[in-house]
Amino acid sequence: MIELIKKLPKAELHLHIEGSLEPELMFRLAKKNNIEIPYKDVEDVRRAYNFTNLQTFLDIYYAGANVLITKDDFYDLTWEYILKCVEDNVIHTEIFFDPQTHTARGVAFETVITGIKEALADAKEKYGITSCIIMCFLRHLSQQEAFATLEEAMAFKEDIVGVGLDSSELGNPPSKFKDVFKKAKEAGFKLVAHAGEEADFSYIYEALDLLDINRIDHGVQSIKSAALMQRLKDEKIPLTVCPNSNIELKVFADYKEHNIKELLDYGLNVSVNSDDPAYFKGYINQNFINLIENLPLTEDDIITLVKNSFKSSFIEDELKEAYLAKVDLVVQ
Ligand code: ADE
Ligand code: ZN
Repeated sequence: MIELIKKLPKAELHLHIEGSLEPELMFRLAKKNNIEIPYKDVEDVRRAYNFTNLQTFLDIYYAGANVLITKDDFYDLTWEYILKCVEDNVIHTEIFFDPQTHTARGVAFETVITGIKEALADAKEKYGITSCIIMCFLRHLSQQEAFATLEEAMAFKEDIVGVGLDSSELGNPPSKFKDVFKKAKEAGFKLVAHAGEEADFSYIYEALDLLDINRIDHGVQSIKSAALMQRLKDEKIPLTVCPNSNIELKVFADYKEHNIKELLDYGLNVSVNSDDPAYFKGYINQNFINLIENLPLTEDDIITLVKNSFKSSFIEDELKEAYLAKVDLVVQ
């Protein structure tokens, strides 16, 4: 089954580019940019990646992002992730970035997006990897600040496919961002939101009813409501599930307790994604491998998970069909 996982072309729909910052690059950029980081070496960094919940991770993740200053830094960050895509046979990726994490430190929106965009253009040219960019609002900040970020993003409308919502979930429900999501929708952005990662399933209802999202990021708490499960199935709402992340952030105590197989068996549109792979011990293939080593997933389940990611992507139908045909070529 591991061979199948490696051979299958995949799409990734839930990847924070800042979460792909490997310790080695963090050290190189810290030195180049003269930024102090609270670690003495790479092993020391890895030792610090010992999280008890989402917030303990976010504190370290935002501190790590401080080393990103120039356009080249964002290019290098993105390019390193692209090399992992090549290794793991990811042929389409939809990446999140958090503009507010950078603009708050005086790094221009344009610097961030240009570095990411140029690396993604090179990925297309050199490896044929397609991609799109989704900008996330930080939910621990105010809706007013999200509005200001949306305003800034309008100059780069051509480069940004969608708008998302991430950061500290508990206490920052989707309802807090109702108006800014409405405006983003009117401007033509696709909409996604982290919901039901740590917080209860009411956040998923809010994301559906108040934000009118196209996809839910995580959404694993939906299992606690039979009515919501039925609705997600009826409305075919995709859930971008991130197994390693859920284990590292203690959403589930163990891979054996992860509910992805139950969600899949119920008929929900779930996919496998790496979230913040530099922090959560592995990229997309490692997520699949950890699942098959701990849950009774079949080869058909793996194929369904992979196909779901292409079907739920924001690419045009023709390319979707071409990618699904590539999957079929491997499994026939
Ligand atoms: N930002 C980066 N990773 C995140 C996650 N898993 N949940 C919420 N915000 C995030
Ligand atoms: Zn995430």
